[in-house]
Amino acid sequence: MDKIIIHGARRLKGRVKVSGSKNAALPILVASLLTDEECRLENVPELADIDTTIGFLKYIGKKIARKGHSVHIAPDGHLKPTAPYELVRKMRASILVTGPLLARLGYVRVSLPGGCAIGARPIDIHLDAFDKLGAKIQIKGGYVETRSRKLVGNRIHFRYPSVGATENTMLAAVLARGRTIIENAALEPEIADLADALNGMGADISGAGTDTVTIDGVEKLGGFNHRVIPDRIETATFMIAAAITRGSIVLENTRPAHVGAVCEKLMKAGISVKSQGTKIICKWVKNLKPVSIRTGVYPGFPTDVQAQWMALMALTQGRSSIGEDVFENRFMHVSELQRLGADLKVRGNRVAVKGVESMTGAPIMVSDLRAGAALVLAGLAAKGRTEISRIYHLDRGYEHLEKKFKKLGANIKRIHC
Ligand code: EPZ
Repeated sequence: MDKIIIHGARRLKGRVKVSGSKNAALPILVASLLTDEECRLENVPELADIDTTIGFLKYIGKKIARKGHSVHIAPDGHLKPTAPYELVRKMRASILVTGPLLARLGYVRVSLPGGCAIGARPIDIHLDAFDKLGAKIQIKGGYVETRSRKLVGNRIHFRYPSVGATENTMLAAVLARGRTIIENAALEPEIADLADALNGMGADISGAGTDTVTIDGVEKLGGFNHRVIPDRIETATFMIAAAITRGSIVLENTRPAHVGAVCEKLMKAGISVKSQGTKIICKWVKNLKPVSIRTGVYPGFPTDVQAQWMALMALTQGRSSIGEDVFENRFMHVSELQRLGADLKVRGNRVAVKGVESMTGAPIMVSDLRAGAALVLAGLAAKGRTEISRIYHLDRGYEHLEKKFKKLGANIKRIHC
């Protein structure tokens, strides 16, 4: 199991290229199940979750070639209508294959994804949407079977603007008969990117990126040739890296509009943030002021940046509060940050932070993807040596993270144990 070793307290300076968005690439790769024509996706990050999705699509019935950040998908015989537990449990987002396979085959048997470190992660909103589109749903033996001769468009109101449920419903409704309207849809940029890819296939979707998405079903879809948007969570992570190490980083290949909430909080804390086209220049200028956050749906403060922000506030003199309103168990990084000397108190879905002068390196362990990013940031700022284990979580969602930080001047390396 690999580990990351950091000798911290070095200011990061330089330029970093942000990779393509994992959470945009995953649903778009899955959208290739909607067509028998060839598809090409550019700016796909080299990540474990992408490899898992590619393996999954090959299992279902696609031929996939990958060259760097470009993925080429072609048909490979009949599609299998199943998503087995051993594949789904590796990556919850595999549940997204339900929509397209139901739309194309009229039947699909998918393992229930189960929970993960950050929460129970139910899929009731997904299933309710398929029910509204006319599918018959049966749950047995840890699997959900959905069947429908032909999906029929409907008005669907989400009780919560679930990102995955919005994507799954779009992936099903594009081939349904008639119009589907999703009310209270998720607004995340990844939804609009998926809609762009689907419309490029010949779908008829409007309103993606707003709370009402309208999908007029079509008979057939062609292939896509699409470029994935930049990863807004990686962007936010590197901006916070500049802040926490008192450095100065130029981020390239970004979409500044997608990180508005994080930019606002960083500027409130006293960081200089300037954007020029697809570049963001993030500079530490003076001692930071503590700034509290509460996570929320887009365009609110992203839950996927909550842990990274906590690491920053842990080293910011004064008191702040971190509220997590999206997931029920997303404070697994607290105990690890405390090992580095952070003064944190968990109170329900809130953490009270008292900034400390400095943190000291120690052996720590990653529990989930974004917690891992927070631990790396804390290690980069802490004095002395930090040894981070279970970094396979990081490899799911950050492309060559330690190489990117090394290029910015960090004393960081990956060791193979
Ligand atoms: C997506 O997960 C992202 N994953 C997550 O990123 C991200 O944290 C999340 O959206 C919120 O922005 C991908 O895009 C692959 P949700 P998703 O459905 O779709 C509850 C990362 O680090 N809910 O919007 O699963 C759910 O339990 C990952 O890259 C239901 O109750 O998020 C949660 O509390 C982590 N029933 C809340 O909604 C449902 O049917 C948000 O979930 C669906 C969701």
